[in-house]
Amino acid sequence: QRAHRIAVIPGDGIGKEVVPAGLDVLRAAADAFDLRLEFEEFDFACAAYWQAHGAMLPQDWQTILQGFDAIYFGAVGWPEVVPDHVSLWGSLIQFRRVFDQYVNLRPCRLMPGVRGPLAGRGPGDIDFLVVRENTEGEYSSVGGRIFEGTERETVLQETVMTRIGVDRVLRYAFEQARRRPERHLTSATKSNGISISMPYWDERVRAIAAEYPDVTWDQYHIDALAAHFVLNPDRFDVVVASNLFGDILSDLGPACTGTLGIAPSANINPERRHPSLFEPVHGSAPDIAGRGVANPIGQIWCGSMMLEHLGHPAAAAHVLAAIESVLAEASPRTLTPDLHGTGTTAGLGKAIAERVRATPPA
Ligand code: NAD
Ligand code: IPM
Ligand code: MN
Repeated sequence: QRAHRIAVIPGDGIGKEVVPAGLDVLRAAADAFDLRLEFEEFDFACAAYWQAHGAMLPQDWQTILQGFDAIYFGAVGWPEVVPDHVSLWGSLIQFRRVFDQYVNLRPCRLMPGVRGPLAGRGPGDIDFLVVRENTEGEYSSVGGRIFEGTERETVLQETVMTRIGVDRVLRYAFEQARRRPERHLTSATKSNGISISMPYWDERVRAIAAEYPDVTWDQYHIDALAAHFVLNPDRFDVVVASNLFGDILSDLGPACTGTLGIAPSANINPERRHPSLFEPVHGSAPDIAGRGVANPIGQIWCGSMMLEHLGHPAAAAHVLAAIESVLAEASPRTLTPDLHGTGTTAGLGKAIAERVRATPPA
């Protein structure tokens, strides 16, 4: 069997702590399923590459990374040293755009053994998938400042929605909905206030929905949707959203399931012309970095999504099952503080890697 070549970019802060835990679990899965995974690590981060070279990436990064089958990414950002918009537009956002990773898949699930903040909800009650548009929308570099330093100082930043860009992510979301038992799609909008781009998004949702008569759909204004995430999270199946709305919903959803620390994401180039990138939803968490207490599950779940993408659904399911069984059974000594435990990143990662090795593959 051909080896899968994986570029590993731990990044900054807790990225450097959770990625080793994620790699341990991937190695365990590779052993259990007889897969060949080859990892090559790159120091593209504020704390390394920037400090040495004054840029986030080498000029030929595209050529370097293009040859890999996937990118396993931790988190980038060290705002004390590099302004966030500089470091993120200099790395993660470049990857998403240049590698045309126009779908960002962000599953959200209340896991067994995890105490969420919402009363009366148990495992399985919250289980939805946010499909975030990942290359255009509100994240645009169209705009600028004029009359700087004067009373007329003016700042503009345009939202960009293209027919191709909107339709392709909507189709991907409808396809995902079609494959799930509930076959339901919710669109996040704000067409009452954002009067040009959002009505266009709505119009394309209606048009694409006609291609999927077997999928039911509805739409909510983003403000009301945020409230429903908290009050009625069981209502949702697939939620499709523009870049910014999807960003916000994909932190809010995991918060409703107990912690941002378990949430994974897959930045997908569906045509496979470029490598896809797998990273937790969370960032470099400077507030807890360096203490070895970050929850590694978001990073580990990303590994499961990467295995799925590489064509190994059984190994992917095995890793997810190991996460669930460890969460269901672990003592507070194994769980990290965000899960109300006293454990460490390494300890929780090791427990999951051991579970992957100990359970025979189905
Ligand atoms: P963040 O996600 O890093 O942290 C938000 C809060 O969640 C913090 O209190 C943090 O301690 C907690 N948290 C996050 N991950 C956790 C984990 N695995 N276990 C336990 N607790 C966890 O968001 P932020 O504070 O807004 O951003 C910090 C830096 O990360 C900034 O530089 C930002 O730009 C960057 N960032 C990078 C990415 C990325 O690379 N994908 C994503 C988001 C933010
Ligand atoms: C995410 C992050 C990024 C985003 C930031 C760091 C630019 O919050 O992946 O959710 O907004 O896309
Ligand atoms: Mn985010």
